[in-house]
Amino acid sequence: MLRYLTAGESHGEYLSGILEGFPSGVKIKRDYIAAQLNRRRTAPGRSARQGVETDDFRVISGLAGDVTTGAPIAVLIKNQSRKVPPPSSLPRPGHADLPGMLKYDTLNAALIRERASARETAMRTALGAFAMRLNELLGVEVNSRVTNLGGLCGLTAQSAAAELVRARKAGDTLGGEFELTFENVPAGLGSFEQPDRRLGARLAAALLSVNGVKGFEIGGGFALAAMGGKEAAADAALSGGLDGGMTNGRDLVLRCAVKPVPGLPGGALSTDLRTFKKKLSVSATSDTTAVFAAAVVAEHAASLELASALLEKFGGDSLGELLPRVDEWRKRTKKIISRL
Ligand SMILES: Cc1cc2nc3c(=O)[nH]c(=O)nc-3n(C[C@H](O)[C@H](O)[C@H](O)COP(=O)(O)O)c2cc1C
Repeated sequence: MLRYLTAGESHGEYLSGILEGFPSGVKIKRDYIAAQLNRRRTAPGRSARQGVETDDFRVISGLAGDVTTGAPIAVLIKNQSRKVPPPSSLPRPGHADLPGMLKYDTLNAALIRERASARETAMRTALGAFAMRLNELLGVEVNSRVTNLGGLCGLTAQSAAAELVRARKAGDTLGGEFELTFENVPAGLGSFEQPDRRLGARLAAALLSVNGVKGFEIGGGFALAAMGGKEAAADAALSGGLDGGMTNGRDLVLRCAVKPVPGLPGGALSTDLRTFKKKLSVSATSDTTAVFAAAVVAEHAASLELASALLEKFGGDSLGELLPRVDEWRKRTKKIISRL
């Protein structure tokens, strides 16, 4: 089983993360992790802060050269933007500010923002890159695509860019949807034996933990509700690769809805918790949309869960132990699946 923890504030010195339970013998180059962090950082719709942040990182344990040792992997990412915002008793609507201030008994929303910020997802991406690499070496490939930006479907790079410019000029922000696929996933990952071992539920938790994600679907998802059983049974792909909490040998297809970025450049009306006066909470440096970046983070969050499920099924402390087990299982299950 893989476990991970992240720590660090949005404008603190470092973000840090530990990934535990990762097998030895996985070759992962620094460039591989850097490329994943870059995909997140430079995704369309992001704010000027991303030009400041370089996501300069160090792997301080768990690697010998560029090969994992089996020891806990610890990563540090240096924050470039160190200007901690001033104390504020004005919670930003749609953020962790208000419930966080109540929970931690503080009138300073800045303390809440520092940790609740999606800056944390940089570390999840760095740790997730290890899981993505392991899955890749076991033949499993993950991809994501944004299928809807603020209600606009059939996106091209140009139409998305134009929609972002339009929203920015209007002082607005956008939400959207993305689809995540995992190809060549061995059958039998996850379990129906206990509710918390169902892989669909585990992937849902991983994806709904990405900041701003508000909806989740597996395969046919919500559209299944309007279908008859005959129609649903006629298309096996509607399962999205999961039946009974386990992978069924088909591609995994997951979809998420992301809410529009709550930080509005023109401000959103809020109530100051010191004076109880209404005031505008302005977020001049917010992203215009998080959907493209969230899709990248989601690939990594889901990869961590899938790698964990692979390790649970096949065991092994090294890649050398895992590989033949996965190969043997694929051969065995293929004999049956190919005849269905
Ligand atoms: C990569 C990424 C970047 C984000 N950037 C912003 C942002 O610049 N401004 C903002 O208001 N929200 C942004 N969000 C969304 C907020 O972090 C999120 O809506 C907020 O933390 C409240 O959490 P919740 O929406 O999950 O309830 C971003 C989310 C992600 C995943």
